[in-house]
This record gives sequence, C-alpha cells and structure tokens, in this order.
Amino acid sequence: MINARRFFRPTWAEVHLGALQDNLRRFRRRMPRSTKILFVVKGDAYGHGAVACAQAAQKVRVVDWLGVSSVEEGVALREAGIRLPVLVLGSLYPFESFLAAAEFGLTPTVASLDSARRLAEVARRLGRKVSCHIKIETGMGRIGMSPAAAVATATCLSENRLVDVAGAYTHFSCAGGPGAGADIDRAFTLEQLRRFRRALRDLARAGVSPCLRHAANSAAALRLPASRLDLVRPGLAIYGLYPGFKPVLSLKSKVVFLKTVPRGAVIGYGATFRARRPTRVATIPIGYADGLSRRLSNRGEALLGGRRCAIIGNVSMDMLMLDATAVPGARVGDDVVFIGRQGREEILAAEIAAAAGTIPYETTTALTGRVPRTFLLS
Ligand SMILES: Cc1ncc(COP(=O)(O)O)c(C=O)c1O
Repeated sequence: MINARRFFRPTWAEVHLGALQDNLRRFRRRMPRSTKILFVVKGDAYGHGAVACAQAAQKVRVVDWLGVSSVEEGVALREAGIRLPVLVLGSLYPFESFLAAAEFGLTPTVASLDSARRLAEVARRLGRKVSCHIKIETGMGRIGMSPAAAVATATCLSENRLVDVAGAYTHFSCAGGPGAGADIDRAFTLEQLRRFRRALRDLARAGVSPCLRHAANSAAALRLPASRLDLVRPGLAIYGLYPGFKPVLSLKSKVVFLKTVPRGAVIGYGATFRARRPTRVATIPIGYADGLSRRLSNRGEALLGGRRCAIIGNVSMDMLMLDATAVPGARVGDDVVFIGRQGREEILAAEIAAAAGTIPYETTTALTGRVPRTFLLS
C-alpha cells in the first residue's frame, strides 16, 4: 500500500490499481488486435488520480495513448515521467497553449480553421514538425468542425509540411451505457458514425487520410463493434464503472461518534429526520466538502458492520449521520463504506449516483482534494 500523504481524519478513497490493470487487460482482450486503446485520464482520471492511473496503465503495456482535457493535465503527466502519447481532447483556446503542448510532446486537438492556422504558426516558430488530431462534429454539439470545414482545415494543414494530421475523431453524445445515466442510443450513435465515415471519405477525396480514426468511448467500443475503427477511447470501463469490469475506487470512513436518541429526536441541519423509535446514530466525518452529494440526505446508504445503514438527516459539509440501529455491535472507530464492498454487501458508484440524481462520472470526479487517495497495488 502506498499512502499519497499522511492523513489523520479517517476519510479516504482506496484506488485499486491492480483492478484497473485487470480492466485494461480485459478491455484489450475484447477489442480487435489492430484497434489501439486511448485510456481517458482526464478530470484527474475521473477522480482516481491521473498520475497513479497513468503509471499503472503504462506498466501493463496494453495502452497506446492517454487522453486528457487540457495542456495542464498533460504537463502533469509528463512531469511525472509518463512517456505514452497524450491527446489533449479539450479545446485549446487560448491558442498560445499550442506552444506548451508542443514543448511537452502533447498532441492537440484542432477543432477550427482558426486553431489550425495558429498551430501551423507554432510549428513554423519551433521549426519542427508537430502533429494533431482534427475533431469532426457529428451530433455532440460541443467542439468540432462540420465535415466541410474539416476538409478545408485538413487541406490547409496538409499543405503545411510541418503539421501532421495524424488523427481524426468524433464524439458520441448518446453512448452512456448502462449505469452511466442512460443506455446507449444505438440508432443515434450509428447515425453519428455514418456522418463521421462520410466526412472521412470527403477528407480522403481531398487527399487527407489520417492514420488514426476514432469515435468510440467505453459503451460504443463494447457494444457497437462497427464504431471501433483504428482506436477506441475508454474511460468508464477501465475505472470499473461499467458492468463487467472491476470497480477501482472505494470510498471509506469511520464512525467517530455514537449515541442512542429517543423516539421523536431530530437529526442534522433543518431537522429533516425525526426518529420514529429509539435510534442508534453513528456520526461519520464525511460531507459535501468531500464531494459526497448533499442530495444523499435521507436517501443514501453506507455499509457498517457489513449491513446497509440509511443516511439520516441532511448531509452537512463535513459530517453525516447513519441509522446504526441494526448494527448493535457498532463501535467508534469501525469502518464505514460509501462506495465499495464490506462483507457480502457492496455499494457501486452507480447506486450512489442514482440516489443523488447524477451519473457515476460525476460521483467519482466530484471527490475533492480533501479526500486522500490511497493506492493499492494488488
Ligand atoms: C472525447 C472523449 N472520449 C472518450 C471519453 C470516455 O468516455 P467513457 O468514460 O464513457 O468511456 C470521454 C469522456 O467523457 C471523452 O470526453
């Protein structure tokens, strides 16, 4: 076990890097040999710790690329010694960041003619070749060029011998997958894929044939084989937030205070919970400042003594209360699990997300810097 840093408050997240590596191998086995894998580690690896996850990924040698959302995220990986190719998936405005991206060997996304011109300028200034992936809009409505604009941009770039259009990609808007808030919309996703293929044909006709064509996230790669193309970009599955993969992150704390309150006693801010019977109440030092949603007030559950205990009253900034009546043996210092397994019971991030009215991506990404990540290697 490697501790990220010393901590005293007994609230922490365990990141099972061995499970992450197993997930990577499992994902690799399910893809054709010729399909490359870009592991998405943006948003601090969905809250799991980008550097540790990238290092673990680098060791298993089944990942070809990493994906981040900003130059800053990419630089942090380079400074930690990560050598894998890194694609910056986000928009690079202001375009000065192209220079930093090139200096740190990060591959930027070009999503407009304007940004293409600025990248060409950077290449001229550096006097060396830079490569990029161009982003094509097919139904996400976020960043990306229409197929016609993509042809104009790629042509402009390919005329400049210092810029290599190494990849072209699009992004599916309705490929959440089970547990991710909504199931994949096959018809919509296949229509996006058709639009993308048409755009690629237009590019080829204009003499631009990027080697890496990609579109699929976890759900699309697993469930729509036609979308795999040259490279797939999983995040969710690798963190075990997709069915069939091992959960990687557990969120834990301990009982710090225990009391029995009489029938009629109220609990927490706003007195939103009133005991209907004498109730054993456990106070746990975790709250919304840790990223545990306040929407779990009087809704969520946690595991104590191997049993599910209801969150009672409002979740406050630093603490919450559990109904521990069903665990008569509970003691101060006992472990409490919010995400993960205890005995025969397990709470998945997807369950917490559903109770909080959100998606697992947000549940793990929302965990704040106040929650130390403890990395487990096996
Ligand atoms: C451009 C891009 N590709 C791939 C992914 C990974 O998606 P998933 O976590 O559903 O596999 C994301 C995540 O949001 C993304 O923004």
